[in-house]
Amino acid sequence: MGNLLDGKSAIVTGSGSGVGRVSALRFAEEGARVVCADIRLEQVKETVSLIEAAGGTATAVGCDVSNEDDVVAMIAAAVEAYGRLDILFSNVGIPTPRLGSTLEDHTAEDFARLVGVNFGGVFFGTKHAIIQFKRQGGGGVILNTGSVAGLVSWGGSVYGATKGAVHQLTKAAAIEGAPFGIRANAICPAGMPYTNFMAAGGMTLPADALDQAAAQVGKSHPLGRPITAEDCAEAAVFLVSDRAANVTGVLLPVDGGYVAR
Ligand SMILES: NC(=O)c1ccc[n+]([C@@H]2O[C@H](COP(=O)([O-])OP(=O)(O)OC[C@H]3O[C@@H](n4cnc5c(N)ncnc54)[C@H](O)[C@@H]3O)[C@@H](O)[C@H]2O)c1
Repeated sequence: MGNLLDGKSAIVTGSGSGVGRVSALRFAEEGARVVCADIRLEQVKETVSLIEAAGGTATAVGCDVSNEDDVVAMIAAAVEAYGRLDILFSNVGIPTPRLGSTLEDHTAEDFARLVGVNFGGVFFGTKHAIIQFKRQGGGGVILNTGSVAGLVSWGGSVYGATKGAVHQLTKAAAIEGAPFGIRANAICPAGMPYTNFMAAGGMTLPADALDQAAAQVGKSHPLGRPITAEDCAEAAVFLVSDRAANVTGVLLPVDGGYVAR
């Protein structure tokens, strides 16, 4: 489609589904060579097939982002495949278990899992991307997926707290990375009814009920329609591209104006 990311080597985590899959496809369309990483290897193999069918270049890697060794291996795979790493998009996130759970409904295991995947995954990714960027020289770009739930109290107490932590880590990485030409930003989506996120939280709706729920969510946004993975992918392409060369430490809501009210 374009050449905004021509020749860049990028990793997109959680690219077996939703925002990650659409972003990996868009990065490849813009000329990036993409390592598609996910805990579900079969799903990222499918993403790679879609990218290759569209004429792009991609590699599938199985990775649990809450496991530091897996994250180190994921970054090594990108360097081995494409010679260096220019962009890490840490996009994995898991929802509140049993969607609708109150704070006191969370067990110690729920808490550890949410923190381990949502915050731990971003911490390990950011840490090892910075190590790689410094090793190879020439800067680098980190993009994280936060959430509106990390900006205002919405979408689950512990989930929102993990996203708030992601936002703060993003800003810290931006400041620490700036002297090395490393940028770090986050996108902060509002509810996206059409990804697999709700199902991961144990909520599956038949198609007509899903459309109704989506319309309801859309009405709560000033722009009047629900957020899609495509909306997030477009914001992601901009933030990881050189068009955003002087943009760092930004938490960009992709929310139809939800948090502006
Ligand atoms: N969908 C929403 O309503 C919504 C709203 C705001 C923010 N977000 C955030 O957007 C991001 C993408 O969500 P989505 O809606 O595309 O969800 P999704 O469930 O469609 O995709 C998430 C992907 O992450 C993978 N994954 C889960 N745990 C993993 C792990 N430990 N290691 C590696 N991969 C793992 C899953 O296999 C899946 O492919 C997440 O960070 C989420 O928190 C989603």
